[in-house]
Amino acid sequence: MLNGEFLCESVALNPLADQVGTPCYVYSSNRIRGNYQRVARAFEPLNVSIHYSLKANANLALIRILLAIGAGLDAVSGGEIYRALAAGADPARIVFAGVGKTRAELAYALDQHVGCFNVESAQELERLNTLAIERTMQATVALRLNPGVQAHTHQHIATGHAAAKFGMSADVVRGILSSVDRYPALDISGLHVHIGSQLESTAETEEAARHALRIIDDFPQVRRLNMGGGFPIAYTADDQYPPVEAFAEALINLLSGRDLAIGLEPGRSIVADAGVLLVEVQYVKHSGGQRILVTDGGMSELIRPALYGAQHPVRPLRLTDSPQTESFAQVVGPICESADVLNPAVLLPAVQPGDRLAVLMVGAYGAAMGSTYNARPRPPEILVDGDQWTIIRRRETWEDLIRLER
Ligand code: LLP
Repeated sequence: MLNGEFLCESVALNPLADQVGTPCYVYSSNRIRGNYQRVARAFEPLNVSIHYSLKANANLALIRILLAIGAGLDAVSGGEIYRALAAGADPARIVFAGVGKTRAELAYALDQHVGCFNVESAQELERLNTLAIERTMQATVALRLNPGVQAHTHQHIATGHAAAKFGMSADVVRGILSSVDRYPALDISGLHVHIGSQLESTAETEEAARHALRIIDDFPQVRRLNMGGGFPIAYTADDQYPPVEAFAEALINLLSGRDLAIGLEPGRSIVADAGVLLVEVQYVKHSGGQRILVTDGGMSELIRPALYGAQHPVRPLRLTDSPQTESFAQVVGPICESADVLNPAVLLPAVQPGDRLAVLMVGAYGAAMGSTYNARPRPPEILVDGDQWTIIRRRETWEDLIRLER
């Protein structure tokens, strides 16, 4: 805030919203760079290669920021590989993950010479091997280990327990590593582990790494270990999560001194706190003892509160000089769903229709999980760099909504 104005870097957001309208997403380039560098610094002793996880936010302009400072990329679909290449990525620095890669996606990734395939089942390995033979190619593979570790996080984003659909059990991984000759077109030389997102403690990550190391000790052909993403961020002032440095320390203790190339796939920790969603209050209602602010942004722009009960702080875009009494308000969207809530209880001063609010920490899994539900065109995305801003995705129109239909 400066003189009551909410800023992103040096750009005041209320005048920006006058120009581009609401709802809109606004991202800070400097914050993205800083977040990436923080992860890189923390893990420096391990000489890690960092593959930004595109699923968090794959806008071309954000990808380019990260490419420019040396990031590799983690893609989970043919579409994400396509985006990465469109942004100018070196295919050799893309890892292709995902539990359900289709034949067409694997073929595309091979044809584009993607650097590594994180394979999640023996059937996928067979499929990839066949496709690579057809192309007389060799593909580099990391086997995704399901370490059977229950991460402490929301159940929707825990991926490392035995019943999860992700990865392969240690037995299956060992079986494959014992019979790599069955896959002549594959260089099976890596392990991949990702136990979940927004991890609440480092203990499970250490446990997962230990599981991986037990396999690596028995199979020296494994020269690479990709520990995935999952570093948490504090969405609210009350959130107490270990910083990325704590994950780094835990992994450095376990992994340094080994002849292993270490990879990471952070998404949220790179972009989440670099983005805000600007919305405008349309109506103020009082019902059931509650103050309800109906805004022009909702679960189509940010589904995390509805899907995970996620807490995203909400702040007024402008504050008056005089001290204001605050009271709780429920901030909701216009969509015809009771789950369409941006924040169920946020302390706010008096707010009138036309006032704007900033929903914070939406850079990761905000626009990326957006939809056009209720035939709502997707909002524009704005990138701020210092005192400059650029529209990096224009607002969709009603015509865009029906363009593909006959
Ligand atoms: N690598 C793999 C294999 C993953 O599955 C994920 C996230 C990542 C890396 C990146 O994780 P991060 O560093 O962002 O935690 N939509 C949910 C999050 C889903 C995460 C899915 N996988 C949310 O909004 O919280």
